[in-house]
Amino acid sequence: MKISVIGTGYVGLVSGVCLAEIGHEVMCVDVDADKVARIARGEAPIVEARLDELLRRNIGVRLRATMDLRGAIRDSELTIIAVGTPFNGETIDLSYIRNVSTQIGEALGDVDHYHVVVVKSTVVPGTTDDIVLPLLESASGKTAGADFGVGMNPEFLREGEAIADFMAPDRIVIGGIDARAQDVLARVYDTFDVPKIRTTNRTAEMIKYASNAFLATTISFTNEIANLSAAVGVDAMDVMHGLHLDRRLSPVMADGSRVVPGLLSYLSPGCGFGGSCFPKDVKALIAFGAERQVPMSLLSDVIEVNRQQPAQMLSRLARHYPSCTGVRIAVLGVAFKPGTDDIRESPAIPILDALRQSGASVGVYDPIASARLVEETGWSDLRVYDSLVEAVQDAAVIMLVTRWQEFAELPRLVSRNQLVIDGRRMLPKNIPCVYEGIGL
Ligand code: UDX
Repeated sequence: MKISVIGTGYVGLVSGVCLAEIGHEVMCVDVDADKVARIARGEAPIVEARLDELLRRNIGVRLRATMDLRGAIRDSELTIIAVGTPFNGETIDLSYIRNVSTQIGEALGDVDHYHVVVVKSTVVPGTTDDIVLPLLESASGKTAGADFGVGMNPEFLREGEAIADFMAPDRIVIGGIDARAQDVLARVYDTFDVPKIRTTNRTAEMIKYASNAFLATTISFTNEIANLSAAVGVDAMDVMHGLHLDRRLSPVMADGSRVVPGLLSYLSPGCGFGGSCFPKDVKALIAFGAERQVPMSLLSDVIEVNRQQPAQMLSRLARHYPSCTGVRIAVLGVAFKPGTDDIRESPAIPILDALRQSGASVGVYDPIASARLVEETGWSDLRVYDSLVEAVQDAAVIMLVTRWQEFAELPRLVSRNQLVIDGRRMLPKNIPCVYEGIGL
């Protein structure tokens, strides 16, 4: 199929590249000339596993990057909207969605065939039908349903594993205003043999939010139980292990073995969730509920628990160092999770902020995200270590914030008098040093 993807951010670029890889002819459209030029040269503007390889393989073959939105839409059968939907502090900011909807509508005015416009950006329920569709109609002078279709197809891509998630999805949600629009959208994913949910645009939008809100809730639940476990002198890892053996969570098979659902290995007591999705999406859903007089009180607490969770790292530090003046502290990991250089909403940021104000001498080590941290925060006073070994050798206190696999080497590297605060519970408790962990 010929497909245009509007917006070459994280979701747009990964989707565009993967759609080309599975055989579609894709045009990635962006207003940022520099980004378009980089993509056209086969250089990915973001760090994502296998993205460079797939981009280089497809660019100029089945994938093009362009600033010409009109031309892209004229030459394609389906357009995917993948522009940003930031949370502006009060509510979801739909200005990019509105702008591109109008531009796509204007372009549709010139199109003489049936074209389907699909929203992939995460948008609150009703956005596709009540905002995008009317803008497309008014700007094109055409009628949705008769002249063009409108659909909603949320993404479920984890950063760092986005290509793998796209190529091996667990489900595909095909929202559409009618069967005709859904049929065209379903053809995009013809090659995938996985559950495909055909539904309304509103339901599709709600599925995406419910999915992220559920995961964020299970994380804050785990962390709240972890904090109480630590306060009563038990290890939250043992508590969660006992909880997870409920047969409704880990079903018992006929031979007595257990199915261990991915969710259970995903969850671990920790210093909080970050990233571009959970904090923003949960806040947007709370604001959306409030506008409709449906208080989302559980989700408000999910955010509040998460806001306070980084402080658990600092209270553990205070047990050993009531004053941090001059104490050399190395923070390991600044990315919001391993496998990415993305630091958005990373718990490392409030932790580092507090440490800098405490008078400690603070350094950071992250396999790929340190430079970005310094660039985006302007914290030029931070020491940036080039290797894990260097960071560990230099510090009296080591605070592990991101679950990078290489940090599993710590037991080999630390010495008896060092304090290690494990913000992800990824190290053995008997590591040869003074050990503290969330939920312990
Ligand atoms: C998430 C969803 O997993 C994905 O399906 C959705 O499409 C986008 O949002 P992502 O933000 O890339 O993906 O990362 P994920 O691996 O889910 O982790 C999110 C955050 O939760 C990270 O900061 C991670 O460290 C944190 N986390 C995870 C915890 O703090 N505790 C846990 O127990 C699990």
